[in-house]
Amino acid sequence: MTLARVRREYRGGFPALLESRAPAAPLPLLRRWLRDALHHGFLEPNAMTLATVDTRGRPRARMVLLKQADARGLTFYSNLESAKARELDGQPHAALVLWWPELHRQVRVARVSAVESDAYFATRPRGAQLGAWASPQSRVVRSRAALERNLAAARARFEGKDVPRPPHWGGFRLVPRAIEFWQGRPDRMHDRLRYARAAGGWRRTRLGP
Ligand SMILES: Cc1cc2nc3c(=O)[nH]c(=O)nc-3n(C[C@H](O)[C@H](O)[C@H](O)COP(=O)(O)O)c2cc1C
Repeated sequence: MTLARVRREYRGGFPALLESRAPAAPLPLLRRWLRDALHHGFLEPNAMTLATVDTRGRPRARMVLLKQADARGLTFYSNLESAKARELDGQPHAALVLWWPELHRQVRVARVSAVESDAYFATRPRGAQLGAWASPQSRVVRSRAALERNLAAARARFEGKDVPRPPHWGGFRLVPRAIEFWQGRPDRMHDRLRYARAAGGWRRTRLGP
């Protein structure tokens, strides 16, 4: 293993992230960067790491898919009885990180509270809908075969019918308190612009890389 020697210079002509080109609020910039990532056809351009803490302050992180980013916040969907859901119930604070390596870009979000259910479930492929019924997310399962039996049971239960949203499945909307945009630059002189909520709007500051 030569991990210590793995190193990348952030060259490649990506535009600098300058105050003169950055909007006064973070959402238009986040949406611009999401559009860029989608446009490049990356695998899972909306994947993000979600970090939560339990009531004793111990953190846990995992990937989820960002499904909506608008003025109300950032939304993802999950099992409402999963470890992440239990942690968000008990401690409604979280952090998110999106990373697009090919664009040398990272976005970090700190957020406060909010849980919601959503009609989004109806738009999921049937297999994913049935999977939501079949999986006791984050709980110990006896075997892969037990999971497959759950799936077969869900398939039989909803044969010829629309699959309704399970009561234990829904959306979480994260309301950003701060959003930081990171653009990789040569010689580790990266650009970091941080937006933090301030009275009636956002305060933008530049951070050292
Ligand atoms: C790229 C990627 C995207 C994922 N998206 C989601 C998602 O949108 N919702 C979800 O519940 N789990 C998603 N998962 C699975 C989670 O990372 C995690 O394994 C699962 O939600 C259980 O997490 P928990 O036990 O901490 O609650 C994704 C995993 C990967 C690798």
